[in-house]
Amino acid sequence: MKPEEILQLRERYLGRALSISYREPLKIVRGEGQYLFDEEGRAYLDCVNNVCHIGHCHPRVVDAAAGQMATLNTNTRYLHDHLVEYALRLAETMPGDLEVCFFVCSGSEANELALRLARSATGRRDVIVVEGAYHGNTTGLIEISPYKFEGPGGEGRPAHVRVAPMPDGYRGTYRYGDPESATRYAAAVADEIAGARADGREIAAFFCESMLGCAGQIVLPDGYLHEAYEHVRKAGGVCVADEVQVGFGRVGSHFWAFETQGVVPDIVTLGKPIGNGHPIGAVVTTRRVAEAAHTGMEYFNTFGGNPVSCAVALAVLDVIEEGGLQARAAEVGAHLKSSLVSLAKRHPMIGDVRGLGLFLGIELVREAESLTPATREAAEAVELMKDRGVLLSTDGPLKNVIKIKPPLVFTWENADELVAGLDEVLGEIEQKAEM
Ligand SMILES: Cc1ncc(COP(=O)(O)O)c(C=O)c1O
Repeated sequence: MKPEEILQLRERYLGRALSISYREPLKIVRGEGQYLFDEEGRAYLDCVNNVCHIGHCHPRVVDAAAGQMATLNTNTRYLHDHLVEYALRLAETMPGDLEVCFFVCSGSEANELALRLARSATGRRDVIVVEGAYHGNTTGLIEISPYKFEGPGGEGRPAHVRVAPMPDGYRGTYRYGDPESATRYAAAVADEIAGARADGREIAAFFCESMLGCAGQIVLPDGYLHEAYEHVRKAGGVCVADEVQVGFGRVGSHFWAFETQGVVPDIVTLGKPIGNGHPIGAVVTTRRVAEAAHTGMEYFNTFGGNPVSCAVALAVLDVIEEGGLQARAAEVGAHLKSSLVSLAKRHPMIGDVRGLGLFLGIELVREAESLTPATREAAEAVELMKDRGVLLSTDGPLKNVIKIKPPLVFTWENADELVAGLDEVLGEIEQKAEM
């Protein structure tokens, strides 16, 4: 079908709430490694897809899925090796006594289950989240996602949700260079606990991504989660690390991004990269939380933990380990970040370069002093990069942060291509602004 035909059919038969990337939408028909191909065979360097973590259509994943699909696919009510093999492998990647796994089909299902576990374990309902956070698409998660409840169509903050300030070192209340910023931002979590108490309410859980994605690729200040977790635990709450975007070695230095903060959460939620595009998600928690949350109600998920999903997830772990992809994220990510920092010296529009491993963000501003967001320019840069065959996107509350989170097979040369393209594109945008 021609793109126009597809657009017409989408309009006719799909809900209007679905969005499409780019002014001129792309019809992508094939993926391989870090590349996507349109119907004319043009290759696009995918710098933003953190779902196809080990590369699009990785042959090991394809073989694992096809092989298991041709043998058996059923549910967790039968004994199967893959389910326990994967649970064991996943638990082995986790620190502390995080070892009880639940398998689901998406990041949203993982967070929804985490919410339920936290509520059952504490007998409470309220949740603290961080400004700008997105935790998923269900009704219960929209309620704890400021990104949604404060955004278009949102209905505002529900009474059972409290929002802690985003620990943004560039634009937030406490900025880079403030040695107390982690303590101060964590104290703001304590303030939310106190605020809830003043209203006669108690906190069940603190949900926080280990690096903030939709909020604009924010690296938490060192020690933030450690102190925030202390406040939450002292108040009897459960600490949930949402690793849906940032897990599985993407941050380079560690397998899990929460490890960069030196903490062990009570519940970890996983999605996107876990199945390299196959719909699987997971919740990993401690025996203590799992037991406290056990009400006697059966947990059944028709597709969660099926043999095909587990075969896929096992193949993903194998490839990350055998291919040294975490180390690669560290190495290529460090090179890319330092190149972007150099680029910022030539382009004043780049206000901040931040991130860890292959999870980076470039915040564009019109003016360094006022931090006026260069929202239009960020969108334009993404369009012009697409015209050059490089796929990026924007995010953050002001939509002025260019996100970089490519498959981990991204190479040093890919990083150079991205930076050279950005150099040209930002130059073009700056020139236009001067005219
Ligand atoms: C941090 C975070 N948590 C949860 C989700 C929800 O995951 P899914 O779209 O797989 O339901 C997302 C999706 O973007 C996310 O970014």
